[in-house]
Amino acid sequence: MVHLSMGCGGALYKKDVVLTAAHCMSGSGNNTSITVTAGVNDLNSSAAIKVKSKKVKVAPGYNGNGKDWALIKLARPIDKPTLKIATTAQYNRGTFTIAGWGDTEEGANTGTTKLRKASVPFVADRVCKRHYGNRLVSKEELCAGWQSGGIDTCQGDSGGPMFRKDDAGKFIQVGIVSWGDGCARAGVPGVYTEVSHFASDIARAAAAL
Ligand code: ARG
Repeated sequence: MVHLSMGCGGALYKKDVVLTAAHCMSGSGNNTSITVTAGVNDLNSSAAIKVKSKKVKVAPGYNGNGKDWALIKLARPIDKPTLKIATTAQYNRGTFTIAGWGDTEEGANTGTTKLRKASVPFVADRVCKRHYGNRLVSKEELCAGWQSGGIDTCQGDSGGPMFRKDDAGKFIQVGIVSWGDGCARAGVPGVYTEVSHFASDIARAAAAL
């Protein structure tokens, strides 16, 4: 899990490639303006590893509706474990971990310097659509959250990973924090990019970065 200087999260997909949300990026191309912070929970820790971006690739066809993923090529590799992404839909169920340095409540607008995490259950598209209707791009997005609200990702968490363990007990990324109406409202799940749907696109884009 990494922090991005514009106020988003991300995950190390390769030692020198970060997977994040397209809506955190200003577009594709050479970009040396992003500072990626890795290796720490506390962003102010002196142990923080800071690496600059080199290039950004936003999902082909991204227009603000679905396809909310992007890759950042780093100026140098980070010697930390990478997070495997889901390549099939089989892990799009169960309970997920979400994490980030974003707001701890709706409207806070401050974020946190210490990484926070929480658990949220999968929410079926059919149920998620009770609130979002056709604003949910069901094939490209995955919902998670408690019906009663109270626990969610929020502004500043975008781009960060939603993950669980696979059958072999290894962490696997199933989602990317994308959007939601407010944060942690009852009956309003968080919406995440459905990573498995884009796994081959992501692999191809990473190989071409
Ligand atoms: N779009 C937000 C960001 O840029 C993430 C919002 C997630 N919202 C939610 N209710 N789960 O940080």
